[in-house]
Amino acid sequence: MRLLFSSRNLLAASGTSGGFSGVIRARGITQFRSRRRKYSTTEEPPSPPTTKLEGRHYPIDEWTNLPSHISSALPRKLHLQPSHPLSITRRLIESRFPGPTYQYHNDLSPVVSVHQNFDSLGFPIDHPGRSRTDTYYVNKDIVLRTHTSAHQADTFRSGTSDGFLISADVYRRDAIDRSHYPVFHQMEGARMWSREECKARGGIAAVIKEEVEGMPKHEINVEDPNPPFHEKRNPLQVEHTPEEARAVGAHLKLCLEHVVAEVFGQARAAAAAAGGASAEGASEEPLRVRWVEAYFPFTSPSWELEVYWQGNWLELLGCGVVQQSLPKSAGIPDKIGWAFGVGLERVAMLLFGIPDIRLFWSLDQRFLEQFKEGEISRFVPFSKFPPCYKDVAFWLPSSSSAAGGQIPFHENDMMEIVRNVAGDLVEDVKLIDEFTHPKTGRKSLCFRINYRSLERTLKNDEVNSLQQTVQRVLVEEFGAEVRERNGK
Ligand code: DAH
Repeated sequence: MRLLFSSRNLLAASGTSGGFSGVIRARGITQFRSRRRKYSTTEEPPSPPTTKLEGRHYPIDEWTNLPSHISSALPRKLHLQPSHPLSITRRLIESRFPGPTYQYHNDLSPVVSVHQNFDSLGFPIDHPGRSRTDTYYVNKDIVLRTHTSAHQADTFRSGTSDGFLISADVYRRDAIDRSHYPVFHQMEGARMWSREECKARGGIAAVIKEEVEGMPKHEINVEDPNPPFHEKRNPLQVEHTPEEARAVGAHLKLCLEHVVAEVFGQARAAAAAAGGASAEGASEEPLRVRWVEAYFPFTSPSWELEVYWQGNWLELLGCGVVQQSLPKSAGIPDKIGWAFGVGLERVAMLLFGIPDIRLFWSLDQRFLEQFKEGEISRFVPFSKFPPCYKDVAFWLPSSSSAAGGQIPFHENDMMEIVRNVAGDLVEDVKLIDEFTHPKTGRKSLCFRINYRSLERTLKNDEVNSLQQTVQRVLVEEFGAEVRERNGK
């Protein structure tokens, strides 16, 4: 699961971080515009190559790893297309956080600095999320945001409202399957209170408590077995009193429980209306959610919220009490509050019954015409086209190989190659075999690629040609040696 930069994912990800030469990367699949001119004594010296994103030129360097199929997603802004399921989902969640307390920011640029995306949030320098195997770098200082939290510090600094919601496209190098896509959407929420302003009304804790008591009850079944903070597992911050942290945490949790009640109540109603009651999670039982302790560099205490849906506990969002270092560096040291981040695709897939994350990117009218602004409806699959499985097995170059030395190979590199070659014609890619030769120490990998279009039946020739291109890129860019199916 990659929605959250939590401790659990940190552990899972840290074993897989690696990287490979950015020079090769830049040569291979990076789209860039060279402004190099012929050099003569009367002309300026050649300027470095740049890449153009959202109308601006950025120099590229050995960190650049941005393929064209990713940069071409920037203008799509799916969360702003009024009748798109992601926009309908966004509006539904926004309705739980009304103005003027909450301001919405829905058009912030995805091109952010490493400082905004990681440093400003307290990410340690060796956090695996920073690695080029996980993040798209425009150059060594600029990335495509990997989460909407990248805008927290700036939005706190702007100080135009007590609360905000930021919805946006986010970018991560990742696996290929029906619930992972390298571009997805998140919503960030935050709410702050000023100690000074609350003084006259008995202090922040009292003011928040009163707000919580004034909020309506909901009918969902909440499991929250842990204390509001815990010295070792989920600590109180030194800047906060226990009452403050308790009050902020209680407000946060109740607001998010109301979001779940609203969203899943609607999902059940849509499922029932479509007649798929039992299979689709519509039932008379109250909804169940549970709070799980978590870790994020920018909140403490922190939690994840999980919802019980069709027999499984699903991780929905991460949240917590904002680390005081953030408002402090944003020039509002007097304020304390909460923040959360939720993945919109995950919610929309449940809400509309959308089975494959690629569908969100479809321009097929049979998909787009099914949805209307402000309406939750069940997605009706227009047909199921046949899958086409192809395996590719290859030796990685050994360090002594004449192919130019060892290039560390990351599973995400394979994902990127396949995405770049086959785009949305690939449904999933799995590593099905890994083998190290006992004598030579050379490593062999075998991936199974499932080619399947959501819109039509693929032709044999077409799939074979895609598969051949994948093999060619492996050989030419990674010095791999493709193995025959039945032998060495
Ligand atoms: N940015 C986190 C992620 O993408 C999600 C998140 C967790 C956002 C906790 C928050 C938060 O604002 O408080 O994994």
